[in-house]
Amino acid sequence: MTRLPTFNTCDRHVRHRLHLNETDSKVVHPLQTCFNEEFARISIYPDPENQVATECIDRHYRLSADQLLLGNGVDEIILLICLSFLQYGRQALLSESTFPGYQAAVRLAGGHCLWVPLDRGRCDLQAYRQSVGSGAALAFLCNPHNPTGTVMESREVTTFIDSMNQNNIIPIIDEAYVHFAGETRYSILAAIRQGAQAIMLRTFSKAFGLAGLRVGFATVGRSAQALPFRVNRFAQRLVAEVLTLGAVDNTVACVRGWLRGIMAAFDAGGIDYLPTATNFICFKPPLGSEALLARAQTNAIRVRDCAPFGMPCWIRASIGQESDRDTLLELLQLPGVTVLEP
Ligand SMILES: Cc1ncc(COP(=O)(O)O)c(C=O)c1O
Repeated sequence: MTRLPTFNTCDRHVRHRLHLNETDSKVVHPLQTCFNEEFARISIYPDPENQVATECIDRHYRLSADQLLLGNGVDEIILLICLSFLQYGRQALLSESTFPGYQAAVRLAGGHCLWVPLDRGRCDLQAYRQSVGSGAALAFLCNPHNPTGTVMESREVTTFIDSMNQNNIIPIIDEAYVHFAGETRYSILAAIRQGAQAIMLRTFSKAFGLAGLRVGFATVGRSAQALPFRVNRFAQRLVAEVLTLGAVDNTVACVRGWLRGIMAAFDAGGIDYLPTATNFICFKPPLGSEALLARAQTNAIRVRDCAPFGMPCWIRASIGQESDRDTLLELLQLPGVTVLEP
């Protein structure tokens, strides 16, 4: 077995979870009855074809069902993609400091990472283009970018897709946080509908508040090989229901409001941060990251140290509910700034 470094430790004693970019799930509580109905069928295997869930995603996003692959979280789909396309030690292009799940999957699949530098927290598409001669098979682009929270317009991304395609590289556009930025302006969904040759990744763990279910999808069609029964019956059912619940817009509006408050407080307090298009924010604590992490630990708060991602002195904190905003401001000993909710 290959053992990979993990950034996620046991969280039993954590009171404030600001480290995994989760969003509060109270809005999905009306779906409790669906959960109970599935519990009554717990001895029966789930649908190996994920038919109902796939049809609902298909209808909601106006994609074609044979384009869709559901998985046990986007994490699993990333691994399946790497296992499918990185045989014989092939390479994948990745932004420096990016979401560590890509590197883990590339290594598990026996491939190699080719790192592309970031440009002030932004993915540098020009630098990706300069790396295409390396013979890479895949190019991961996280948009909006985790952990820096920056985002690129969909037209920049479609140009990137074209240039990767011209070099026989499959672009993988991870839109885990795109709801927070705004789908219309930043997602490649419309391009995918029109046949863009890219894999778009979407998770239900973030704006939908279903991280505990482990479910996401990719527009990879049937090209990735996968075993049946990977998506459990609770996940299949709730995905189908959550899309019709229509709660995401409200979640996004709240999260944006809380983060606007934090950015205003950071401006007022002179704290260096990267303006964010997501449900998390990256900042440099004035007292230093070590001291902040120690203070967080004492208060049973978990935030993300970005040093292991090559960003020493930077901390990432996610704001999934109103109390997370207050927790972060208290941790930094900043006064709260009242902002109007949209
Ligand atoms: C950019 C990005 N992609 C994928 C994932 C994993 O998503 P999932 O919970 O669906 O496995 C995360 C989780 O934090 C993420 O930040």
